[in-house]
Amino acid sequence: MSAFPVTRLRRLRRTGGIRSLVRETRLDLDDFVMPLFVGPEAKANDDLPGMRRHSVETLVAEAGELERLGVRAVILFGIPEDKDDEGSGAWDDDGIVQRSLRALDGTGLVRLTDVCLCEYTSHGHCGIIRDGEVANDETLDLIARTAVSHVEAGADAVCPSDMMDGRVAAIREELPETPIVAYSAKYASAFYGPFREAAESAPAFGDRRGYQMDPANVREALRECEQDVAEGADVLMVKPALPYLDVIRAARERFDLPLAAYNVSGEYAMVKAAAAKGFLDERQAALESLTAIKRAGADLVVSYWTKELASWL
Ligand code: PBG
Repeated sequence: MSAFPVTRLRRLRRTGGIRSLVRETRLDLDDFVMPLFVGPEAKANDDLPGMRRHSVETLVAEAGELERLGVRAVILFGIPEDKDDEGSGAWDDDGIVQRSLRALDGTGLVRLTDVCLCEYTSHGHCGIIRDGEVANDETLDLIARTAVSHVEAGADAVCPSDMMDGRVAAIREELPETPIVAYSAKYASAFYGPFREAAESAPAFGDRRGYQMDPANVREALRECEQDVAEGADVLMVKPALPYLDVIRAARERFDLPLAAYNVSGEYAMVKAAAAKGFLDERQAALESLTAIKRAGADLVVSYWTKELASWL
């Protein structure tokens, strides 16, 4: 290897044209998924700036706009009218996500759905509670039922985010032909804060550390991915993204499945808040963040910036 002065790495940075020729990572709208919230009524959302809660009607309008802008895929999150102990609104054929999916019938967008109970349970946990804990095996049936009802209503792929052991297998058994995008390495993260406000899904007691992953662990993330592969997942996901780029990289190197990363609400809200204060430029910070997530090894990215990205690219 030659050294300076023979080697001068600045030679390839001199102009925008040269930089572009040697750029290793590019952002392509085809790789992005836009999250959308839908509830009984449309309303603004102060906690997640730019992300309003849609009614089924405004959701259809928004989807049309996204499609015109070139967005390819959306992931739906529902906020039901009523919640109960089991989260029965999650698998209701006439539930908010099911009605939304039917209303989006005929759209060119790929319709993914988040499969979880936390937005539907009165206690805000991702499964049913027995003796103060989330009961794994009993929850599996409800998760699978929810996934089936989404697919019956038109979902193109289901994304279980509950972190129960065995949920991919439970869904796979019922849905042999549906792509499963598994939130495989989902950490118990502070960065979900704005989402929980937006989706009204904060746990009423305790926290999610008994089922979501410990932020300190990366080998365990690979074991989670391994289980999901064995159970029939089609796409693995790491979530959040930016504080877990090493996990994305490790999963990329170990598995050949497509890898997704979820650039979560707190990652987005931090940049929005800093930009609102004039501390940084939102567009540049967002593009840099999304590039870093791709560079770490993500094939697809779920990001609240997807719509804005469509106009930036
Ligand atoms: C549902 C779910 C959550 C997120 C996605 N699916 C919240 C949670 O686990 O508490 C978070 C997404 C985000 O913060 O953007 N379980």
